[in-house]
Amino acid sequence: MLPQARFLLIGHRGAPGHAPENTLAGFAAALALGVDGIELDVHLAAGRLVVIHDRRVDKTTNGHGLVAELPFETLRRLDAGDGERIPTLDEVLDRVPPGILLNIELKAPGTAAAVARRLAGEPRSLLISSFDHAELARFHALCPAIPCAPLTVRWHAGLRDVVEAVKARHLNLADRVANAARLQAARGWGCPCFIFTVNDAARAAQLREWGAGGVFTDYPDRLRGLAPPVEA
Ligand code: G3P
Ligand code: MG
Repeated sequence: MLPQARFLLIGHRGAPGHAPENTLAGFAAALALGVDGIELDVHLAAGRLVVIHDRRVDKTTNGHGLVAELPFETLRRLDAGDGERIPTLDEVLDRVPPGILLNIELKAPGTAAAVARRLAGEPRSLLISSFDHAELARFHALCPAIPCAPLTVRWHAGLRDVVEAVKARHLNLADRVANAARLQAARGWGCPCFIFTVNDAARAAQLREWGAGGVFTDYPDRLRGLAPPVEA
């Protein structure tokens, strides 16, 4: 179950204000900074789940090409920053304590089925999210017991249907479209919002006042102290 009564600080791709994004060092940094949860992005490489944001390796590593097309060993030799490697999802699952919320964002077609196979029966605290709501629905159909959160950068009339389709426990909403009325509406659907990406403590405090369930942040240290228990 997700801890519902706290305002959660979730390390966005780890703690990229402190260590390379989506790396084991980044996740360790986030944990050391006291996050409640960690968000990461997954793609498929040679049938294996790897943790990287883009479909290409170019932006975050010293390599070139599509994650889905590089040989797995080539991909694993790349430098993802400070000598870190692109982690597999398995490596992250081995290192993140089960009580820390792990938000796995499905970034590519096919990740729903692969993540569902890997996580079936996993007792840890999990949340699966995606901007690709069809991929998220595929995950929900395969693993209805694991909570889902649609991601969106737009607030629109169809959102409630999107939430219903995956029985969402959270709605992961872009900060620039967050306001008090929308956060309350989502709470009314039984679906408190997690807001991305929030690095300013005053903004995080405002979102908390409005009823957000938590925030994704690059700098967990800046927002610490904002997380006393709030009304569920
Ligand atoms: O899940 C919040 C955030 O990670 C969504 O955007 O582009 O950073 O994956 P992005
Ligand atoms: Mg993400």
